[in-house]
Amino acid sequence: MALVRACLCLFAVLVFVDGSAVRVVVQEGSDAILPCSPSTKEDLTYKLFEWKKDGQKEVFFYDAGIHYNNGRSGQDEQFRGRVSFFPDQLTSGNASITITNTKTVDSGEYSCVFPRLHPGQRYTVQLVVNQVLKDRSEENIPGVTPRPVIVTLNQTKDWALLQCEVNGASPQPDVEWQDSSGNRVGSEQPQVSEREGRFYISLQTTVTKTDHYSCVSTQNISHQIRAETYVFLSDKVFESGSGVSISGIIVGLLLVAVLVALLVATKFGSIKLCWNRELEMEQELQRERELEMEQKLLRERELEEMKQELLRECELEMEQKLLRERKLEDRQEPRKECELEEMKQKIWREGKMKTMNLDPWRERKLEEKRREIRKECKEEEMKQKIWREDGLLQLLDSPETPAEKQNGYSTGNSKEAV
Ligand SMILES: *[C@@H]1O[C@H](CO)[C@@H](O)[C@H](O)[C@H]1NC(C)=O
Ligand SMILES: *[C@@H]1O[C@H](CO)[C@@H](O)[C@H](O)[C@H]1NC(C)=O
Ligand SMILES: *[C@@H]1O[C@H](CO)[C@@H](O)[C@H](O)[C@H]1NC(C)=O
Repeated sequence: MALVRACLCLFAVLVFVDGSAVRVVVQEGSDAILPCSPSTKEDLTYKLFEWKKDGQKEVFFYDAGIHYNNGRSGQDEQFRGRVSFFPDQLTSGNASITITNTKTVDSGEYSCVFPRLHPGQRYTVQLVVNQVLKDRSEENIPGVTPRPVIVTLNQTKDWALLQCEVNGASPQPDVEWQDSSGNRVGSEQPQVSEREGRFYISLQTTVTKTDHYSCVSTQNISHQIRAETYVFLSDKVFESGSGVSISGIIVGLLLVAVLVALLVATKFGSIKLCWNRELEMEQELQRERELEMEQKLLRERELEEMKQELLRECELEMEQKLLRERKLEDRQEPRKECELEEMKQKIWREGKMKTMNLDPWRERKLEEKRREIRKECKEEEMKQKIWREDGLLQLLDSPETPAEKQNGYSTGNSKEAV
């Protein structure tokens, strides 16, 4: 059993070290995380590790907190500003890095090395960056889909000879000329040549109208890239006629201009009238809205006042109720006094007993006295109870205060009863 486990373990390490198991595939332009965690799983904060591409290019270097992103020099230009590590993961022995905005040239074999660990460790990650169809004219790699280049070969008053060149595209694009409304413009047969799987296309056209012209290069229908030029050709009307006809045309144009001016003026007049009417209507509407607003405010104020009044009434009622309750409580006061008296007696008794060393006769006397007081208290309590209930009943019958005063309430004072 142990042997099998050992074998399995060895196999897993081999697969990892072999590198074929760690393969990272990303789309061009996205970020790639290259994993690396040495088997010792020790805290790497004060250790050294190094990432290289294809065994030579310096990708990332970390030495006890010093690295390429905080001052250390030596990083390969290709990776400058694009590689980061995970500082909070170092303690758990994670030396993975992220390469942002990957390019196809980033594809290759990356090694993560710990030269100072014992035993020294080395891991390999295969990065594959898949190419995405897009405009690569800004990139310096020989064009996959380069932007077309437009050249005006010859131009007279009546026409212009334009040439479009697409150099080194792959796969072969469809190249055509379009005018500003996107219509195809007739052209010569394209000149196509191919070198090392890349296509070089040249397409000429002769245009006779002033317009913006585009050369559009299309790959797989959906992927298009275009270049635009503006061609200005002078108006033929002025060249073809004699001097007399030109002056005639000028007079005609002037007449037209005057007519147009008149038309515009009257139109503006009516527009202005229209505007005035609209303005008046708008103002009227505004006035109405304001009136409505005022009425609404008034109603709200009335409502508020009503609410306040109701509240005041409610408060008054509450106060009266409280007053009634207070009176009921007042009747309980004798009982409290009685209890207080008993308490005093007790304290006095205990004090006396302490000083007099418990004289039995005195003790008996005191006990008698106590019983008496207690009896009185009991009686008082009984009376209180009856009064309280009486009072409640009367309160319920007639909540007026004067009537309450007359029903013998004042006799409920304890001093009178005792
Ligand atoms: C290392 O950290 C990265 C980033 O948080 C994470 O994606 C990766 O899974 C970690 N590796 C291990 C072995 O924990
Ligand atoms: C431009 O076209 C005119 C008329 O066809 C021709 O005479 C002239 O040589 C051309 N110029 C160039 C540079 O090709
Ligand atoms: C684009 O064109 C190439 C070459 O003609 C072809 O191999 C590829 O399958 C096409 N791709 C799509 C998405 O049409």
